[in-house]
Amino acid sequence: MHRRVARVSGSLQVPGDKSLSHRALIFAALGTGTSRVRGILESADVRATAGALRALGWSVPALGADMAIAGGGLHAHAHPETPMACENSGTTARLMSGVAAAQRTIATLDGDASLRRRPMRRISDPLARMGAGIAWMENEGTLPMQVTGGALHEVSWESPVASAQVKSAILLAGLCGGVTVRVREPQPSRDHTERMLQSLGAPLSHAGDWIVLEPSAALPPAEWDVPGDPSSAAFFAALAAGAASGSLTLTQVLLNPHRVGFLRALERMGVVFDVHNESQAGGEPVGDVVVHAGALRATTVDEQEIPSLIDELPMLAALGAIAEGDTVIRGAMELRSKESDRISVMVSNLRLAGVRAEELEDGMVISGPADLRDAPVATHGDHRIAMAFGVLGAITGLRFEVDQPEAVDVSYPSFWHDLARVTR
Ligand code: S3P
Repeated sequence: MHRRVARVSGSLQVPGDKSLSHRALIFAALGTGTSRVRGILESADVRATAGALRALGWSVPALGADMAIAGGGLHAHAHPETPMACENSGTTARLMSGVAAAQRTIATLDGDASLRRRPMRRISDPLARMGAGIAWMENEGTLPMQVTGGALHEVSWESPVASAQVKSAILLAGLCGGVTVRVREPQPSRDHTERMLQSLGAPLSHAGDWIVLEPSAALPPAEWDVPGDPSSAAFFAALAAGAASGSLTLTQVLLNPHRVGFLRALERMGVVFDVHNESQAGGEPVGDVVVHAGALRATTVDEQEIPSLIDELPMLAALGAIAEGDTVIRGAMELRSKESDRISVMVSNLRLAGVRAEELEDGMVISGPADLRDAPVATHGDHRIAMAFGVLGAITGLRFEVDQPEAVDVSYPSFWHDLARVTR
């Protein structure tokens, strides 16, 4: 077992939630009148969504702490002249495909090398069923993808994957296309799109497992206050939990029940934390989370829990290296379709650092506490791999040489600065 050396103290407000930031921009643009968005995540992924909206003629200002966005309504005002650059952002590609499918235009969506490897059939299938034209410009099922939008028809879609991006693409296509859509998923994924639509007065309802959105003529303007991203806060919760001593307060974190799986897993690992100042922001629960350093024991994460902590699994796996026992992650096949194949990338990096780690088809087993050593980290450009090893390095004092530290820019540009500040 390697020593745990970090001492943490103080408090930290992590940047705005990424999922809510994409959606706040989209709903502000699609609305009528002027919407306000405060606390948006100013990161590369969210900038990609702003750029995609602009390419279709919505006027979105540069990202800032307090944005006034003049809504342009549900219909695009321009034909994109060049491919819409979704960069590294799966949320941009999938949600904006839904928007584009309902517009009388042809839009090509493209991404960086990582996004070009990620599966797009999960959205092209339902959008094609609704009547959009889909053409693969290079390889079947991946970007670049051309979407020919137009008059859509209603759909009832049973998604084979639990994915908020798929669900949201269909809801946005229905909203912009003025047709009823019904979506069902194998397990419930994050429900931000549904909550936001309901708070805007859109006729969204639940019928058993089905989410049903009926047409609305227009969306009113809104005010969104974006709380801290629980997926970013997870890195600092892990840091505090794994520290040698101290505690850390993470202020105003989004506590949507579909997003708190990591806190539940920490609880099972024996981590002590308290939640204070609970309130509501933009129709979502938020609160301050105080996490205390202490002993860590391994836990098992099963399939039904996966959607509530999918983005936090790299950090959980890294924490497994210092926890007592076997940390088991199962039913997480989706991890292979993220910004990198997070199963193989985490396992290979942990092994290089001296950890006994086993790759499963749909997960991994990490045995701890490991006799860790300095090691290089191949991030494959994946922000969450970079941050997971950043935290493990801070906890243990070991040198994990992260090959692309700038990968954090897509979700948490100030990560390295914040990490240095709270461990000082
Ligand atoms: C997101 C949904 C999740 C998550 C991603 C953001 C969203 O992806 O991993 O980081 O904002 O809808 P899936 O919907 O593909 O599971």
